[in-house]
Amino acid sequence: MGPSDPEPLLRMRGIVKQFPGVRALDGVDLDVRAGEVHCLLGQNGAGKSTLIKVLAGAHQPDAGEIVFAGRPARLAGPTAAMRAGIATIYQELDLVDGLSVADNIFLGHERATLGFTRRGDAERAARELLGRLGHGEIPPRREAGRLPAAGKQVVSMARALSHDARLIVMDEPSAALAHDEVANLFRIIRELTASGVAVVYISHRLEEIREIGDRVTVLKDGRSVANGLPAKTTKTDHIVSLMTGRDIEYVFPDRPAPDGDDAGDGDGGAEEGRAEVLRVEGLTLPGAFADVSFSVRAGEIVGLAGLVGSGRSEILEAVYGARRPARGRVLVDGRPVRPGDTGAAVRRGMGMAPEERKSQALLLNDSVAGNVTVAGLRRYSRFGWLNRRRELADVREQIEALDIRPPDPRRPVVTLSGGNQQKVVLARWLAGARNLRLLILDEPTRGVDVGARAELYAVIRALAARGIGVLLVSSEVPEVLGLADRVLVVREGRVVHSGAAAGLDEAAVLNMIMEGSAL
Ligand SMILES: Nc1ncnc2c1ncn2[C@@H]1O[C@H](COP(=O)(O)OP(=O)(O)OP(=O)(O)O)[C@@H](O)[C@H]1O
Ligand SMILES: [Mg+2]
Repeated sequence: MGPSDPEPLLRMRGIVKQFPGVRALDGVDLDVRAGEVHCLLGQNGAGKSTLIKVLAGAHQPDAGEIVFAGRPARLAGPTAAMRAGIATIYQELDLVDGLSVADNIFLGHERATLGFTRRGDAERAARELLGRLGHGEIPPRREAGRLPAAGKQVVSMARALSHDARLIVMDEPSAALAHDEVANLFRIIRELTASGVAVVYISHRLEEIREIGDRVTVLKDGRSVANGLPAKTTKTDHIVSLMTGRDIEYVFPDRPAPDGDDAGDGDGGAEEGRAEVLRVEGLTLPGAFADVSFSVRAGEIVGLAGLVGSGRSEILEAVYGARRPARGRVLVDGRPVRPGDTGAAVRRGMGMAPEERKSQALLLNDSVAGNVTVAGLRRYSRFGWLNRRRELADVREQIEALDIRPPDPRRPVVTLSGGNQQKVVLARWLAGARNLRLLILDEPTRGVDVGARAELYAVIRALAARGIGVLLVSSEVPEVLGLADRVLVVREGRVVHSGAAAGLDEAAVLNMIMEGSAL
């Protein structure tokens, strides 16, 4: 960087944003060139989403200057940002579920009021934009809420194109996508940048940075600690130490050595002696999964690997009682659990941290404490009033264990960063862990930064060491392999492999996951 740097498309200098009690941005600099993919990295709460909300006109900075396309930019609101040529695809997608795809694309659009007197015109234009993104199959009349996550994202991108955006900002776009969908996203990004559009790309998956990124800016505690590093050649260890301010080993905790003397017995001699916490027999739900059988022993971590849509989440939901299977049984500690009844599952000691934290898990306007203790509410209420002191002590314990930031039990969850919200979902089940027999985790580290991941892995391992069975789904194969004792591979609704994690590598699992699928 320096005087030799060509005049960038976007230049941000000294951006400050203060929230009550938190200085989210403390003088951030960012330069983005036309036609590049600029990756924005940083730990949970570093200020990434806040910075791009400033760019989107959703937040007004308290200080700093923004120059866009050679002119000082005042991004007074979302419309002003769009008019200037900046489009944002948010961490939590912001489509209007009840409106059609076409209406979402042209929502609040100048052309919606000027042109498009007829519905057919808007639909034709929508079809053309979707086609440019390689998704001509998405019907413009379909309700947006009925599309899968990847489809919603494409609609958000079509909206960006419709505004002739010169800069498209994507906040963790890959977090909700499966392997093949990420490949498609990258293809779209490459086409956009080839035509001169600049992309700001946020992700916690560092391996993606090398694949798609040109340059990297790292935020830490609201400041830019590195500006425009080359994405292809900067070492991952260096980036991680910039993000965290320390050299962390982003590795998995060691598996506990199998206890017992009967070593040499091969496949889990010691495990044989442990009681089965969960047993699933012949579970079948037509259209989702068929004839699924497996067990989880006390202290064992079992990982389900498979593509999004392979049936893995549905299997978890059926185990937990959120779906009622057509056939088969779920047993906890040897006794059948009433099917399709989450209340019964919880009473028998199951806890579940679901995949979509916003819609399924969090009371956003409630405090951290309120969200953490909601699962164990009965434990804190005696004779009708809550034991606030004990509740608060438990919550503080979880805030510390998971490093939830800021460490304030009274803060509304809606003001936490995305990754910290995910930690609150987990904290809820950990706080109730006293009676827990089986913890079910669907994508537990989605949106969680590399440093916090290591802490989370340690927490999950510690729970298992206390004898709790863990059943987990993750799209990240290394995570399944690093964390689980045993791996089940799910393909098209069937368990096609079950075996110890120790003997598997990533390529082997990916092969089993995708075999026979049209990739
Ligand atoms: N509306 C708000 N009110 C108060 N504080 C907020 C608000 N939005 C964000 N913050 C705080 O600002 C800081 C930066 O949050 P931000 O969402 O920008 O982080 P992030 O880098 O996007 O993290 P993540 O990787 O977890 O998404 C955090 O401490 C967060 O709690
Ligand atoms: Mg964020």
